[in-house]
Amino acid sequence: MSKVTNNLFRSEPANVEPAWNDIATTRRPKSSKTILVAGGAGFLGSHLCEQLIRNGHRVVCADNFSTGMPENVRHLRSSGAFTLLRHDVVDPIDLRVDEIYNLACPASPPHYQADPIHTTKTSVFGSLNLLELAFRYGARIFQASTSEVYGDPNVHPQVETYWGNVNPFGPRSCYDEGKRCAETLFHDFNRVRGVEIKIVRIFNTYGPRMRPDDGRVISNFIVQALRGEDITIYGDGSQTRSFCFVDDLIDGFQRMMASPPSLTGPVNLGNPVEFTVAELADQVLALTGSRSRIVRRPLPTDDPRQRRPDISQAMRQLGWQPKVVLAEGLKQTIAYFDAVLTAKRHRIAEVA
Ligand SMILES: NC(=O)c1ccc[n+]([C@@H]2O[C@H](COP(=O)([O-])OP(=O)(O)OC[C@H]3O[C@@H](n4cnc5c(N)ncnc54)[C@H](O)[C@@H]3O)[C@@H](O)[C@H]2O)c1
Repeated sequence: MSKVTNNLFRSEPANVEPAWNDIATTRRPKSSKTILVAGGAGFLGSHLCEQLIRNGHRVVCADNFSTGMPENVRHLRSSGAFTLLRHDVVDPIDLRVDEIYNLACPASPPHYQADPIHTTKTSVFGSLNLLELAFRYGARIFQASTSEVYGDPNVHPQVETYWGNVNPFGPRSCYDEGKRCAETLFHDFNRVRGVEIKIVRIFNTYGPRMRPDDGRVISNFIVQALRGEDITIYGDGSQTRSFCFVDDLIDGFQRMMASPPSLTGPVNLGNPVEFTVAELADQVLALTGSRSRIVRRPLPTDDPRQRRPDISQAMRQLGWQPKVVLAEGLKQTIAYFDAVLTAKRHRIAEVA
């Protein structure tokens, strides 16, 4: 096993993030911890790293950059409390840490289906390696599990006690079954070796730093609307989704990590307010002022009809519930994508 020592910031290009002077001046409290965030250069991970540094911790972000980007965390450099490592969690890692967040795994279907074998390895070997690390250093470890463990559910809304309805070998299985196996490993390390575990099941979350090519419904609609392209609805648009804004979710992560050892999870985190996909398209059109047309395409295999979390446990045990309404979260996300797409157009114009 090799100790990872490379820090990647030396030669990265500029990004669209603002300067974060307040992070540079954050004072570190006595309770400051060293926290490993695997997958920290991705959408959720970058927001988590930012928040942990704001709270005065030292953060080591380990990422293989398959879907994440150094630019997402570049602004954290000035804090002096942030280290970025290129590392694939499929390989073991040795680093003395107090806490571990495991977010490493591509989250959107086109990305996790691009190399399904590596996706399963990421969830299974990645969890195993990080659990071994947690055991070695007595660290508390958090797993970003997913509502996908419920598959195409027969129970609505989904409660944590529901075991799910998952196809074991369909195109989504590398993700769903990988995450299910990770939950098994986490619980076995807890039962057999006493590792302190924290599992959350995340439902559809959106916000700034999603990738324009993420392939999930919110980023698809916003990018299509901003580019004036047709907005693609799969199926008749009556399927429902619940959308949680990233700031709410990260608050839930930290509450879960700080909860008593007896709370292992899984705990659902998501926004229980349901919208149909057609309603979402209408909101995006209204907020962007786009004149894009709506077109319909066949529903992909195993696409769930309905997803809505039951968050009673999170409310009861963590005092958590989402605060940001869809229209507000969409405004912030649209502003981000607008900046990213404008910067991209300028770069293309400069080259031409
Ligand atoms: N965003 C959501 O709505 C959502 C919903 C459910 C679960 N999750 C889970 O939350 C986590 C983060 O999701 P996200 O939306 O930020 O996705 P993301 O794709 O933006 O982030 C995943 C990060 O993990 C990194 N990664 C992937 N494979 C890796 C590997 N083998 N080794 C090291 N790094 C690796 C990627 O480069 C990326 O930075 C994932 O585990 C995902 O399954 C997210």
